Amino acid sequence: MTEQQTATLPLPIETERLLLRPYGHDDAPRVLDIHGRLEVIRWLGDPPFTPMASLDEARTWIDDLGALPESDPRCVALAAEVRDTGVVAGTVMITPCPNSDPPDLQVGWHLHPDSTGHGYATEGARALLDAAYAYFDGSAPDRPLLDEVWCGMYPDNHPSAAIAGRLGLEDLGILKDPWYEGDSHLFRTTRDHWTERRRERPVR
Ligand SMILES: CC(C)(COP(=O)(O)OP(=O)(O)OC[C@H]1O[C@@H](n2cnc3c(N)ncnc32)[C@H](O)[C@@H]1OP(=O)(O)O)[C@@H](O)C(=O)NCCC(=O)NCCS
Repeated sequence: MTEQQTATLPLPIETERLLLRPYGHDDAPRVLDIHGRLEVIRWLGDPPFTPMASLDEARTWIDDLGALPESDPRCVALAAEVRDTGVVAGTVMITPCPNSDPPDLQVGWHLHPDSTGHGYATEGARALLDAAYAYFDGSAPDRPLLDEVWCGMYPDNHPSAAIAGRLGLEDLGILKDPWYEGDSHLFRTTRDHWTERRRERPVR
């Protein structure tokens, strides 16, 4: 695998069933298979929704993700690889919200349809937030404090809202979206809120 990312977050992150790791160009066919599907991309960002059409586009997407930490080290997008099979189920990420300066940060996820229904997105996002809050504690210039993290989705994206609920993010309801067109179902967490929820979380 060609490592593309230069995240300062210690990687990979291992969970019970997943390896969260940077994407490499070897993943391009799987990325194309995920992002070439309207059923996946129609939930990501604002329209128009244009399915990915080539391996070149997939490699560019991988390179763009790899460059994310250059603008803000707290931002990272990781392949969620199922450890038992080596199959990339999808992506979990912390990214800047569009048109925000300094950037508001959001947590997000998407899976290949063949990998839904197993809890992988929840498991991956939880581990990513745990790792990011632990590492980005403001103790050094390359470890800026991670505090508020947003999560927004189309109001009818019930599977995504269910993930935010399982993670214990604070549910703000359906509001005018500050970063995207129209209304969104918005969730939020903070360092204190996440730490508190972590304490309450069952071990498994
Ligand atoms: C949103 C999306 C990631 C949700 O996928 P998902 O598989 O439902 O989410 P998870 O991976 O957390 O899995 C949860 C499901 O697995 C089930 N599950 C099975 N085994 C499980 C386990 N060991 N642990 C947890 N959940 C498990 C849960 O019960 C739940 O199923 P349910 O909704 O039928 O109750 C997926 O639909 C997707 O990629 N959609 C397109 C892109 C998108 O909308 N992204 C979000 C934009 S805001």
